[in-house]
Amino acid sequence: MKKKTVRDIQVQEKRVLVRVDFNVPLEHGIVGDENRIRAALPTIQYLIEHQAMTILCSHLGRPKGKPNPAYSLAPVASCLSRLLQRPVSMAPDCRGPAVDALVKAMKPTDIVLLENLRFHPQEEANDAGFARELATLGDVYINDAFGSAHRAHASTVGVAAFLPAVAGLLMARELTFLGRLLTAPARPFVAILGGAKVSEKIGVINNLLGKVDHLLIGGGMANTFLKAQGQEVGQSLVEDDALEVARTLLQRGAGKLVPLL
Ligand code: 3PG
Repeated sequence: MKKKTVRDIQVQEKRVLVRVDFNVPLEHGIVGDENRIRAALPTIQYLIEHQAMTILCSHLGRPKGKPNPAYSLAPVASCLSRLLQRPVSMAPDCRGPAVDALVKAMKPTDIVLLENLRFHPQEEANDAGFARELATLGDVYINDAFGSAHRAHASTVGVAAFLPAVAGLLMARELTFLGRLLTAPARPFVAILGGAKVSEKIGVINNLLGKVDHLLIGGGMANTFLKAQGQEVGQSLVEDDALEVARTLLQRGAGKLVPLL
């Protein structure tokens, strides 16, 4: 991994804006799966140990550009606080005077979690003004949101134009493993791919077919492949527009590409 990471920069007494992927399932207002929060702990702990002020930001779900309490990150703040055994201040928004004041009052080792970035349509539009505004909250920017790295949004891509930007420890770890797998994998090499839409993954499927011994397809998009193979899928989610693409991929990956029930 040749990218700079948080270990390569000075963070002491700096305001560090960290994009994490806290897009976790909520069950009755409680985090249903802590894995993504736990995965971000090494970077957060590193920042605390190095006396930084940590400003975390993330999306949660798809609130479509409007505030919606059902998609608030407040339950994540409680969960993170329990995992870290220290307070985590939940911001009322990810922008605006109240957030500026909260961030300005931070002391080294403090942690603030901004409210869901997707409460603003400018996040997914990768709006430069919104990215610049986010950037004013930090002295440096860390991207540790590996699970969102395929999105070109204001907080994942746009903000890096306005602040010194480095990878977090989770991002670095994932890129190291992925890099090794794509260049010198141990055989047999089996990849498992999930997600809803074949149409969004044609590139990655084609690329993987050239590298793996088997490609197992799960998630909603397995149905599209199963239907393309002539199987009944009942009421399951299917992308009818992508059946032809699925057929072509099945032909190309003959014997390698296996949709799972
Ligand atoms: C995910 O869960 O796949 C990531 O957090 C990205 O979420 P998104 O598909 O809503 O952009």
